[in-house]
Amino acid sequence: MKKIEAIIRMDKLEDLKEALTKEGLAKGMTISQVLGHGNQKGFAENFRGKKIVPTLLSKLKVEIIVKDALVDDIVEVILATVATGEIGDGKIFIFPVDDVIRIRTGERGVDAL
Ligand SMILES: Nc1ncnc2c1ncn2[C@@H]1O[C@H](COP(=O)(O)OP(=O)(O)OP(=O)(O)O)[C@@H](O)[C@H]1O
Ligand SMILES: [Mg+2]
Repeated sequence: MKKIEAIIRMDKLEDLKEALTKEGLAKGMTISQVLGHGNQKGFAENFRGKKIVPTLLSKLKVEIIVKDALVDDIVEVILATVATGEIGDGKIFIFPVDDVIRIRTGERGVDAL
């Protein structure tokens, strides 16, 4: 199993939820409001090399735990749904997940997703 963690623009969540649901890809997801910056340090253009204090921008963090076989499909849907081509589109991080436990039943692993 893997955790797909996508940092996306605030206004892209509805489109992403709809696309993932339509494709039947995500059984569950967790969304958080986060603050962050990327390479441009929160500014509209790149000041590469200059020392500037980063500005933190509001983004959404979408976390989805899935079986390995679905990772590529989900990444494809995220890219197709949230990319604008402008700086600040966000990033996708993928982590290994050791186990999942459904608290109600005690089921573990992919059965608990
Ligand atoms: N290396 C990183 N570590 C942790 N969070 C990051 C990292 N890079 C980006 N983020 C998160 O993703 C958000 C969007 O980053 P952003 O899309 O600006 O990345 P970028 O590398 O600057 O790419 P681009 O050049 O397209 O803007 C940031 O506000 C931050 O929350
Ligand atoms: Mg950036």
